[in-house]
Amino acid sequence: MTALDRNPAAPAGFATRHLRRDILAMAGYTPGEQINNCIKLNTNESAFPPSPRTLAVLKNVANDELRLYPDPVFRRLRAAAAERYQVTPEQVLAGNGSDDCLTVIYRAFLSPGDRVACPWPTYGLYDTLATLQGVELVHVDYRIDQHTWHLPSFLSKQGAKVVLVANPNNPSATLTPIDQLRQLAYELDGILVIDEAYIDFAPDGSSMLPYLNSHPNVIVLRTFSKSYSMAGARLGLLFGHPELVSQLMKVKDSYNVNVLSQALGIAALEDHDHHHQLVTGTIKERQRLERELAVFGWTWPASAGNFLLCQVGSRAEEIYHGLKKRGILIRWWNRPVLSDKLRITVGQPAHTDLLLQHLKELV
Ligand SMILES: Cc1ncc(COP(=O)(O)O)c(C=O)c1O
Repeated sequence: MTALDRNPAAPAGFATRHLRRDILAMAGYTPGEQINNCIKLNTNESAFPPSPRTLAVLKNVANDELRLYPDPVFRRLRAAAAERYQVTPEQVLAGNGSDDCLTVIYRAFLSPGDRVACPWPTYGLYDTLATLQGVELVHVDYRIDQHTWHLPSFLSKQGAKVVLVANPNNPSATLTPIDQLRQLAYELDGILVIDEAYIDFAPDGSSMLPYLNSHPNVIVLRTFSKSYSMAGARLGLLFGHPELVSQLMKVKDSYNVNVLSQALGIAALEDHDHHHQLVTGTIKERQRLERELAVFGWTWPASAGNFLLCQVGSRAEEIYHGLKKRGILIRWWNRPVLSDKLRITVGQPAHTDLLLQHLKELV
């Protein structure tokens, strides 16, 4: 030990004392549990394998592709996304998951003290990013009835620079009609982010993407984590006005999408047939799950996603823990509005069978 060596028995808090106070005080985002050897019906991943073309990409990675940095502006991926979604490459930015695209949006539009608004309950990361950026988050409650969750009025009147709407929403899987979103975009003096992580499971015509050119203040987010079965690759897309996108390019990390994920994304986008099968297979299994869960007397708002938010009642927590003990993870939140509900991801048919078998014993 020299005089320069710090005492390993430094008092608690010594190492962290230079951190920002708001970081020390915040709880941090809680991702869904990842426990080995459990059946995972808790994080809305796809139940089915990704396109075989993506696996072929992995086998064919050349030495040089790993040795060199990836394309910082993902030209080939942008072109493939533009073709797939009928936009121009200049309207596309890619991220390390759509979470990364959200971070770019917060960084680019929001200074400490600004306001961001979203209907509530929704995806919890919107809150975490607000704390990290030092901005105020306004929750405006969804109007909830048995069949659906309605977008609250006055979302555009919250003095927010950015309004975020997940459509379909997480955790409810409910869909806000496109005309309501267009009305909101029209009224809002700010940026409207439509997070379409689950849109491929919704009926055709539900996406805001075809209206992008009519609403220069709208940003649409998509992910490969759900309908493309590539949550592990971390890849998301952001679509917006070309002028916005070129500014956002300055804000993202330089090499925010690695070489493998860029190549995987292109392969997945080009395999229309496989994507179609993934979506239709998931919807079919969701319909079966709905028929089977109805037996327990549970209800849920109409789902446009790959999950159901079941109204379970006072035993929700107990059933969540009971399933966990039996190796099946679903999602339960100890929070107002959600504590009497369970969110269940559509799984593989064999996993649905196991879930139902255990539920019959527990409920
Ligand atoms: C509404 C919503 N947006 C974004 C994400 C994150 O997607 P990604 O895996 O692309 O970061 C999720 C993940 O569950 C989500 O539910």
